[in-house]
Amino acid sequence: MKLTATSVSRAALVTALVATTAGAVVLSATSASAATTLGASAAQTGRYFGTAVAAGRLGDSTYVGILNREFDMVTAENEMKIDATEPNQNQFSYGNADRIVNLARSQGKRVRGHTLAWHSQQPAWMQRLEGSALRSAMLNHVTKVAQYYAGKIYAWDVVNEAFEDGSSGARRNSNLQRTGNDWIEAAFRAARAADPTAKLCYNDYNTDDWTHAKTQAVYRMVQDFKTRGVPIDCVGLQSHFNAQSPVPSNYQTTLQNFANLGVDVQITELDIEGSGTTQAANYERVTKACLAVTRCTGITVWGIRDTDSWRSYGTPLLFDGSGNKKPAYTAVLNALNAAPPSSTTTTTTTTTTTTTTTTTTTTTTTPPPSGCTATVSVLDQWNTGFVATIKVTAGSAAVNGWSASVALPSGVTVVNSWNSGRSGNSGTVTFTNVAYNGALPAGGSTEFGFQADGNAGALSPTCSAR
Ligand code: XIL
Repeated sequence: MKLTATSVSRAALVTALVATTAGAVVLSATSASAATTLGASAAQTGRYFGTAVAAGRLGDSTYVGILNREFDMVTAENEMKIDATEPNQNQFSYGNADRIVNLARSQGKRVRGHTLAWHSQQPAWMQRLEGSALRSAMLNHVTKVAQYYAGKIYAWDVVNEAFEDGSSGARRNSNLQRTGNDWIEAAFRAARAADPTAKLCYNDYNTDDWTHAKTQAVYRMVQDFKTRGVPIDCVGLQSHFNAQSPVPSNYQTTLQNFANLGVDVQITELDIEGSGTTQAANYERVTKACLAVTRCTGITVWGIRDTDSWRSYGTPLLFDGSGNKKPAYTAVLNALNAAPPSSTTTTTTTTTTTTTTTTTTTTTTTPPPSGCTATVSVLDQWNTGFVATIKVTAGSAAVNGWSASVALPSGVTVVNSWNSGRSGNSGTVTFTNVAYNGALPAGGSTEFGFQADGNAGALSPTCSAR
């Protein structure tokens, strides 16, 4: 039987297929809402799809053609690292990074900043420093680079790879770690002060398997930061996979558990060695895991063509050396297109972890014909405080800006908020969009959060759109 549909919605298409009982179904359909590029299909779910970009390849027209067509988020593969941006102490150099940032922004793409503080790819002068001289050099670097790019960066990998591999769950021994255990939070505070509009992420590898000591250790650090009000907005899972380090069966659980701490999660450097249908199936699993987690806000692959990869021998990317789409590309695109649009997600998740039990209930109601709606999730309530996120969803028309107000019970004081501007900290508090999250397409949504002292009680936010 041949089923042809050209103008039905995806929901109708699914219904039609489910109702079909006879034999094999050959589907020749272009759903009304199936997008044909990675960026556009991810955007339908409120997410982004990005790639690492190397300045040295910007003269390659095949490379730039795929970049411009497919991706709506860009990470500089090496050009924003410490050795590139501060080759001599206090002498900053942004030429190659700017070429990438300017190209991205001229095409309406957003930028992930990578990375402000890391043990690796340090310039020689920094490698030689220790102690308080290194601490102040590191903070100066974070401040200067984040200030330089302020307003242009969607999210910064503030700190990269600070934990040890293996079973210790310890911090990695590095010159930065030897300046004192608080170096990571100091870096985050400096980054927030320098660019209050960027989301601030902790990024690492081998943090994909929920049972691994390293994953647990990063989780406990993020939990501690949220509890103490250290400014952190997101966790990046690099997700470099191969036969020795495959996509773990509990990958979605890991994403969800981080998200339940009240941070976004992002897959920041995805590549999966392999080929053909096996590789495609692995890419599909990773994509679906992100789509199943409301706060998994986007996926970035670590390069465009296999030949562009830092692990080119493993052919780990979505395009072959000639720029052709691989089966893995099709698997990712189909998974993205099969996901429900962002405004209809309802999740109830109960997660048991080794350290805590968190229950998250998020209910997003169908948007009204215009304007916007706001829904609140209290992610964590302890004796003296709580963390909540508010999701703002546009109605049937796009909005260019929004503000959400919530009347707080008496005695409740906001101590910290992220991804929004805020007026006041008690009584009725109004949160307003920042530069990067004001524009929402019809039905699109964004989330911001706050931490407060006191008891959340029943919160009922309202939303108004511009
Ligand atoms: C890699 C780049 O892809 C290479 O070009 C470079 O030689 C080394 O670094 N984790 C990270 C990335 O956070 O910055 C690394 O990128 C890959 C592993």
